Amino acid sequence: MTFFRHLKKIPKSEKYRLSATLLLMNTILSPDSDKSIVMIGLMGAGKSSIGRRLADALGLEFVDTDDEIIKAAGCSIADIFELYGEQAFRDLEERVIERLLQEPRCVIATGGGAYMHPETRKRIDESAVTVWLRADLDILVERTGRRGGRPLLEQGNPRKILKSLIDERHPVYARANIIVDTGPDGHDITVQRIVQALTEFAKASA
Ligand code: S3P
Repeated sequence: MTFFRHLKKIPKSEKYRLSATLLLMNTILSPDSDKSIVMIGLMGAGKSSIGRRLADALGLEFVDTDDEIIKAAGCSIADIFELYGEQAFRDLEERVIERLLQEPRCVIATGGGAYMHPETRKRIDESAVTVWLRADLDILVERTGRRGGRPLLEQGNPRKILKSLIDERHPVYARANIIVDTGPDGHDITVQRIVQALTEFAKASA
């Protein structure tokens, strides 16, 4: 009883660290322990904000492939699409992800289209643990509405575009090692679910 009372007083972020420690203990014996964690999912699913919190909870570095592409190109994603076309963006994305997968273990948030590229998907599947952040259409529409700079959603009605991306991409995202739903609950709850799912995945692959 005293123990549980004590647990209640531990701040949320510390609880994540405790879960993370348990997770790391579990993964010591697992062949996946050195693998990076790659977040996949549609625009607006929360790959970057949740991925950043997850990295913090696990004591790992966080990296966002869109940010790396912007650094490499020296201009925004909207500009890359406009000036050089989507294919140039996809080529950069492929190279950036190939490089990041060779770096020490970290949490990598990918752009929504990255896992759809067969070569990139193969590389990710071979060398990382994949987490699909699954969100429904209403959540995606609401979250993408908060920030622009996504050229694909500027080509028509964002809701219709997201709906057709769900139809096209969800069956492919479904190959992920771990699938976690993200909804109105808040990012901290989603991080907890991912830590739990990673622990179970590590146990299963040990
Ligand atoms: C894209 C998603 C974007 C970005 C680019 C293309 C896509 O990233 O990579 O605009 O094809 O779904 P986010 O998923 O982080 O918004």
